[in-house]
Amino acid sequence: MSLTAIIGGSGFDTFEELSVTDAIFQDTPYGSHSGPILQGHISNNPCLFLPRHGVGHRYPPHIVNYRANIWMLKQLGASQIISFNVVGGIGRTMSPDTIVIPEQIIDYTANREHTFFDGDQDKLLEQGLPPVEHIDFTHPYSPELRKKLIRFFYEQGIDFVGHGVYGCTQGPRLESAAEVERLKRDGCDMVGMTGMPEAALAKELGLDYVSVAIVVNWAAGVSDESLSMIDIMNTVKKNMKSIKSQLPDLLKFL
Ligand code: HPA
Repeated sequence: MSLTAIIGGSGFDTFEELSVTDAIFQDTPYGSHSGPILQGHISNNPCLFLPRHGVGHRYPPHIVNYRANIWMLKQLGASQIISFNVVGGIGRTMSPDTIVIPEQIIDYTANREHTFFDGDQDKLLEQGLPPVEHIDFTHPYSPELRKKLIRFFYEQGIDFVGHGVYGCTQGPRLESAAEVERLKRDGCDMVGMTGMPEAALAKELGLDYVSVAIVVNWAAGVSDESLSMIDIMNTVKKNMKSIKSQLPDLLKFL
């Protein structure tokens, strides 16, 4: 039976819908994960929940210990991960409040611990991993899991965009207008700061991984309006509340 882990992003650091049976906080060979991982059930479906930024959003995107997070979820038996990410919209169809299930990713991050294959052979052997594996990242997100999510949103009558390229920047600052122009030329439809190295690390450990990206603002320079963190946070809160209410049905569906 599959065990789904949910990684909550900005605005999704609590999960009231989960009947919690345990809260796990253990050291990993890669250091500490972001915070307690909640183990429990939603409508009788087992589920793990990890708030990526920790309690009270203590870890900004470039500080999150992605390796410890993914490693611990795997240790706890997760077989698939649904990751929630907030993003700025670049493409015309990516207006604020849009739910997107991206299908591709471009990594613009730097200096993040981005692989388990870091040359520490003993640690790798201990985990049953080979010294190095050049994972196939043609499809960064699990095609099967994406299909299921798309079917779920469609059948629930929820508006969403079922494709798109996610550009992952280093942060924590937002981008310049010229940087967003470049992302657009590269083919990015949305920009966020948390998609990588999370997606690649999940793949290195053989976990099925998908992202549900919520557009919370127009990326820098895309609209005439100036970026307001207050507006962005209000949009995050509103959308997360509504998406969280869908999760019991989604878990049942998967
Ligand atoms: N840029 C990068 N990350 C983001 C944005 C953005 O405009 N909005 C939400 N996360």
